[in-house]
Amino acid sequence: MPDFIKLIDDLPKAELHLHIEGTLEPELMMRLARRNKVRIPYRSVGEVRQAYAFSNLQSFLDIYYAGAAVLLTRQDFFDLTYAYLERAAADNVRHVEIFFDPQTHTERGIAFEVVLDGIHDALQAGQQNLGISSYLILCFLRHLSADDAMATLELALPHRERIRAVGLDSSEVGHPPSKFTNVFDRARDAGFLTVAHAGEEGPPEYIREALDLLKIRRIDHGVRCLEDTQLVAHLVDEQIPLTVCPLSNVKLCVFDKLEEHNLASLLDAGLCVTINSDDPAYFGGYIGENFRQTRKALGLNVTQLQLLARNAFKASFLPQEQIARHLRTVDAVFDGIVA
Ligand code: ADE
Ligand code: ZN
Repeated sequence: MPDFIKLIDDLPKAELHLHIEGTLEPELMMRLARRNKVRIPYRSVGEVRQAYAFSNLQSFLDIYYAGAAVLLTRQDFFDLTYAYLERAAADNVRHVEIFFDPQTHTERGIAFEVVLDGIHDALQAGQQNLGISSYLILCFLRHLSADDAMATLELALPHRERIRAVGLDSSEVGHPPSKFTNVFDRARDAGFLTVAHAGEEGPPEYIREALDLLKIRRIDHGVRCLEDTQLVAHLVDEQIPLTVCPLSNVKLCVFDKLEEHNLASLLDAGLCVTINSDDPAYFGGYIGENFRQTRKALGLNVTQLQLLARNAFKASFLPQEQIARHLRTVDAVFDGIVA
């Protein structure tokens, strides 16, 4: 049997579904609360961790938005992002496409530029010091209005060169992609690529809407696509990537346990599946841990691991020649390993 722990450690990885606010570890939350004199409803790191028992997406989002209240300054956003990049480097992440939720901060009176500048400074430092390349994806909060999303897009337009794509996150059910058709039209006209969370808790119909109306290039989550065979055939034909987050799906009760996750079925169907961590500080593991636990729970083999690692680079927004270079480094890890 191959040494899967070493193989997964050695895998060059791309992470495509990562909310930077979801990397706020309890230790940093407590430190920032003290530094900024922000009151939070926890007295210790232990108490914070105890609060992380979720019954669905909304029960998580309530705690997640409350935790973000400790983030006030450019330095805070830098510290948050750089801490994630150091953690990612330890997992051999070579490229990351990071979500940020500006509305979580602008609605608390934090300037858009404070958020963007802090994150961007850290991404540049991550490229220089850790060799991790990155793109930023601005996510609109779908529980807020389309007008609010449009106003946020206006704030982003002067910073077009620092933001590669826009996405859609937060409470899915009851907030279909169609609510944001105009916003995404305008975003694409302005040159942004588009992605969206769809089919995490919401029905396959939301995945169809995201593809047809928002013209998305990737589906974030998408695990409920298997309920619609015609949709699966389309996703396979077009090789539309799914950024799947196994530990997140278990923590938010999309699947009862990891052994019941449909990731292997998605791969078997010929879908372009990737493994990601979503909100690792809340869900019990970064990308390496997602790989290790999923491999074990589903009995994934060497060929499937290679496919997952390759898919992530192919599904990235990197230029083709850089994708090809990363794929060679992935394949080199498998040279001589018996499947
Ligand atoms: N925001 C942060 N994590 C999310 C998730 N898993 N689904 C929707 N919105 C999110
Ligand atoms: Zn997500």
